[in-house]
Amino acid sequence: MVCLSYKVWRNGNRHRQRQLLLPRGDAARTSLATERTASFNPATVRTTGGTPASGCLGNPSNTLAQLCAISAVLYYKLVQPLQYPMPNAQFKMKSDSQTPFNLEASTFSHIPVLRREVIEDLAVHPGGHYLDATVGGGGHSRLILEAAENVYLTAIDQDEDALIAAQKYLAEYGERVQFVHSNFATYKFPPSTFDGIIADLGVSSYHLDTPERGFSFRHAANLDMRMDQRQSLTAADVINEWDEGELADIFFKYGEERLSRRIARRIVERRPLLTTVALAEAIASAVPPKYRYGRIHPATRVFQALRIVVNDELKSLETLIEQAPNALVPGGKIAIISFHSLEDRLVKHGLRNSPLLRVLTKKPITAQDEEIVNNARSRSAKLRIAERKE
Ligand SMILES: C[S@@+](CC[C@H](N)C(=O)[O-])C[C@H]1O[C@@H](n2cnc3c(N)ncnc32)[C@H](O)[C@@H]1O
Repeated sequence: MVCLSYKVWRNGNRHRQRQLLLPRGDAARTSLATERTASFNPATVRTTGGTPASGCLGNPSNTLAQLCAISAVLYYKLVQPLQYPMPNAQFKMKSDSQTPFNLEASTFSHIPVLRREVIEDLAVHPGGHYLDATVGGGGHSRLILEAAENVYLTAIDQDEDALIAAQKYLAEYGERVQFVHSNFATYKFPPSTFDGIIADLGVSSYHLDTPERGFSFRHAANLDMRMDQRQSLTAADVINEWDEGELADIFFKYGEERLSRRIARRIVERRPLLTTVALAEAIASAVPPKYRYGRIHPATRVFQALRIVVNDELKSLETLIEQAPNALVPGGKIAIISFHSLEDRLVKHGLRNSPLLRVLTKKPITAQDEEIVNNARSRSAKLRIAERKE
């Protein structure tokens, strides 16, 4: 790592002095782009040259620090100010099903949310058979398997990386766990089979933290966002091929983005947009400054909308709520954890309207402060539970 000092200028006034730790090589450019995307408009940045700071991480070599600093100056002065150009060759990702991502190199990390609440409310009993419709890294599955003697589990995930990770994590349970690589919407639910079903919706921390998967504007990567890498539609296809009106509609509907029209217009002007950071920059450039420096990054809602569309998340959830109740034994419970209001609304109404279910949670169960401190992701988690009628 090397350290670069620079000043950020806004409206002709020096806004703040910043220091940036830069990894070596291409990653340095990535870091700069991410930093730009995350916190300020690059058009207002004047780099004052690199000042290798003492006491930086990794005991940096001054020569390397200066080289990075100089390239950063050249970058801001010479490269087009808002667009972050990334030649495709540099960003070839192992993101198709023929070349699965190497999990040895990147560990699957995900802390299960509402663990105590899920286990208590599912009332796991010895010898029971449970379904984890979203096994992910296997966190909730393991809790279920450990909650009582001789529990059997069917574990589904549409993401092959997740299944590989879960297989390893749950290997000690041997034949008691059966893994299924499938979307839960296309899974053939066997009637009256499970004593409990859990679905912990959305993406895992692994998805967000693994740049190659293209879910997050925190990392430079191809715009991908597919949970199931066997499917062909990617976020790049949506962004570069859909009409301006269609883009505006999905940003509004699935991202609840008020500025959907102007963002869609800017995206169409800037196409092709092939990377997460290029898209995030285009979005940031389309919104007023107040919005740009607000509580959340201005690209957050659009990224949520894109992810929902690429993975057809709401339709899949509807199908799950329609099909899953019949797979429960009488008295069996279904627990669904959602992370945004669109999902929660579907879960709330879907469980309530199912003729087979009795809802056990009038209000959704949410995380306690202690959990939120340890796992920020739990802040928006909402758990709803229902039971199959006799
Ligand atoms: C939030 S993570 C689950 C984490 C898991 N509960 C744990 O404790 O490790 C959600 C997982 O569900 C998967 N997933 C999301 N939608 C799915 C769907 N429609 N069908 C199957 N898997 C899905 C994702 O690939 C991801 O691995």
